[in-house]
Amino acid sequence: NSEYYENFDEVHGILMYKEFVQYWDDVETFQARPDDVVIATYPKSGTTWVSEIVYMIYTEGDVEKCKEDAIFNRIPFLECRKEDVMNGVKQLKEMASPRIVKTHLPPELLPVSFWENNCKMIYLGRNAKDVAVSYYHFFQMVNAYPNPGTFPEFVEKFMHAQVPYGSWYKHVNSWWEKSKNPRVLFIFYEDMKEDIRKEVVKLIQFLGRKPSEELVEKIIKHTSFQEMKDNPSTNYTVLPEEIMDQKVSPFMRKGIAGDWKNYFTVALNERFDTHYEQQMKESPVKFRTEI
Ligand code: PPS
Repeated sequence: NSEYYENFDEVHGILMYKEFVQYWDDVETFQARPDDVVIATYPKSGTTWVSEIVYMIYTEGDVEKCKEDAIFNRIPFLECRKEDVMNGVKQLKEMASPRIVKTHLPPELLPVSFWENNCKMIYLGRNAKDVAVSYYHFFQMVNAYPNPGTFPEFVEKFMHAQVPYGSWYKHVNSWWEKSKNPRVLFIFYEDMKEDIRKEVVKLIQFLGRKPSEELVEKIIKHTSFQEMKDNPSTNYTVLPEEIMDQKVSPFMRKGIAGDWKNYFTVALNERFDTHYEQQMKESPVKFRTEI
């Protein structure tokens, strides 16, 4: 079990990938700009999907511009750090405005400068069971991550905040609380799966632009699961195999709501539901586990 924690460390009581923690001062002191837009999610909630949609909105539907570079260069991952090779803070500092910022941080750990500058933020939530399934596959394909064990073993870790970014329950509830502020938009992966047009229009309006029929159509087409799976600028295949081995499991894996049913046994599901109800009993956030 100690092997599991080898590459992890805590920051303000939350489990995190160790290398990120080593440079945490750079994250905490990060200077936001008022026109930054933050995309925040718990890992594996559809970050890449909503990111590409937002990038399409910013470029007014210019697919060629979207394909110019990998998504993690166009929309830097704030707290990501691997020596100087991957460095979200550095990338962002060097980037011209307006910037789009990806983060998985809970609101308490987001650099205060984003709050002081009243930046717009988009939070995308996804139901816990599908997140756990997606995270399980991610653990298997990312080489710096430990062996997650069997699926039930991993789910146990997930339920008890023993995965990077800690408790899913706290994460969604804290961000929900923040979304009382009209500058913070809270949306759901399941809603996007059910009615992408509605969510795209919502995002365009939130970012202060006009949802023309042409733009909405272009976005829906370009950000479909299949398009993004085949697109090297969104499917993470430009990362070397030493970092992410997509032969084990592709980054663009299934892209559906309800895949948890293929992984949770009846017993595990009951156990999970009981714990979920305890954790979420006072929560106003309602997730759908199927659509
Ligand atoms: S990360 O590593 O935390 O940033 O990953 P993230 O992008 O948040 O989540 C990856 C999951 O999102 C799915 N995905 C999509 N679903 C539907 N449509 C589109 N366009 C799309 N793009 C990515 C991706 O397949 C992962 O989910 P799973 O369930 O593993 O397939």
